[in-house]
Amino acid sequence: MYNEVDLDKIDINSDPPSEEPARQYYYMAKCRNWVQDFIEQKGRRPAACIQTFGCQMNARDSEKLMGILENIGFEQSDNEEADFVLYNTCTVRENANNKVWGRLGYLNAYKKCHPHMKIALCGCMMQEPEVIEKLQRSYPFVNLVFGTHNIYKFAELLETSLMQKGMVIDIWKDTDKIVEDLPVERKYNFKSGVNIMFGCNNFCSYCIVPYVRGRERSRKPEDILLEIEKLAADGVVEVMLLGQNVNSYGKNLKEPITFAELLRRIEKIEGIKRIRFMTSHPKDLSEELIEVMRNSEKICRHLHLPLQSGSSRILKEMNRQYGKEQYLSLVEKLRKAVPDIALTTDIIVGFPGETEEDFLETMDMVKQVGYESAFTFIYSKRTGTPAAAKGDQIPEDVVKERFQRLLKEVQRIAAKKASAYTGKTEPVLVEEVNEQDKTLVTGRLSSNFVVHLPGTEEMIGKIIHVKLKECKGFYFYGEAVE
Ligand code: SAH
Ligand code: SF4
Ligand code: F3S
Repeated sequence: MYNEVDLDKIDINSDPPSEEPARQYYYMAKCRNWVQDFIEQKGRRPAACIQTFGCQMNARDSEKLMGILENIGFEQSDNEEADFVLYNTCTVRENANNKVWGRLGYLNAYKKCHPHMKIALCGCMMQEPEVIEKLQRSYPFVNLVFGTHNIYKFAELLETSLMQKGMVIDIWKDTDKIVEDLPVERKYNFKSGVNIMFGCNNFCSYCIVPYVRGRERSRKPEDILLEIEKLAADGVVEVMLLGQNVNSYGKNLKEPITFAELLRRIEKIEGIKRIRFMTSHPKDLSEELIEVMRNSEKICRHLHLPLQSGSSRILKEMNRQYGKEQYLSLVEKLRKAVPDIALTTDIIVGFPGETEEDFLETMDMVKQVGYESAFTFIYSKRTGTPAAAKGDQIPEDVVKERFQRLLKEVQRIAAKKASAYTGKTEPVLVEEVNEQDKTLVTGRLSSNFVVHLPGTEEMIGKIIHVKLKECKGFYFYGEAVE
């Protein structure tokens, strides 16, 4: 979006500027020299591959990192056997970490035969001191390690690591800084994530995110609106507003503004046809937001409202700051204001101290609310969080058995919810040509359900009316109507 900066006009023999983002453009220009040398030696552009783990924030960060790499002159590749490989990591559950350690072993073997290869790591996992110690001890082949707070400095860090041998490590504990206007390479032309805030202040007792993403910081509304206006001018029709708790957006700005008010302003932007957001914390979901959703033409009929547990006792232990009754009354208000709203959620099974009764309350909530879809997770102990220190961790076999029961119930209800749409005609944003069957395209309803229909590439990015002919559990087969 800020790609207008002409790297050729930057004098790389002068001192680096101290202000941002000018400083990063200076280092991009320097890295580009390195790329030019590479091209002269090898007769091709260097290939860069970014692998993203974790949530939509990480996905958006990766688009920014790729934007910088492309600006420098790297060629984007999906293949990890590349000249530059970057893992953007997640640490929300243990298995997210395990994947990274496993893949690093594979990269090491590949690098032994391709010694010029550069390997970099960033993201949430890098904010954990034990991870850095382990990397220094046992993974000396890694070239660059940085964290979540200094990702805007990527060009500068890359330049350092291209110029020297050994591991470059730069991890910050926290930051209050937001750097705007760096390049970004979007994965889709017609839709985009937009960060509206960073970090989290909620400290749910099981969760590592506040420790690795730092304190909550909201972007200024002007910056967000300008970014979305530019995206719209560039052909984007759907935006997904991103934050760990979008409902507390704007509270800490010098000139406070509510999330609902931000949505009202985004609604006015011409060219934007759909607005989504993630994630809503139930404790901060306001009447004002429900009202804005009710009156909006553009906000999708979908709300992701993480429940985590159906037991008020466990919710208290989780430090979620709402109870079962409060959550249910919120659902009632939402359904009354927006009758066709689809609700989805996150649920954790096996939080320390969870009894069979607590679990049955979760099962009961799933039935009562009737979620269109739910992500279910087995509790994962994260070192440093209050829940990890609890004595009453639940045995694995008990958790697994509960998890299976919950999954079955979630799927049963979701299929029932979906089947109610069968026969309806709904607006669908076409997103891609179907991978398995190239005569089909795949799109999404406002409620976020997926539908496959006969179509062609030209339909991508367009909103069309689709008759939902057949329900396949959690997706549909349909047909475009005039
Ligand atoms: N900010 C969002 C959630 C971000 S993490 C919110 O508050 O809703 C995404 C999901 O991962 C969480 O909703 C939770 O269900 C799950 N999660 C977080 N920490 C976890 C842990 N230690 N074990 C298992 N699941 C976890
Ligand atoms: Fe984690 Fe809770 Fe913050 Fe969500 S709100 S990121 S679950 S601490
Ligand atoms: Fe994972 Fe970090 Fe997102 S821990 S879930 S990538 S904020």
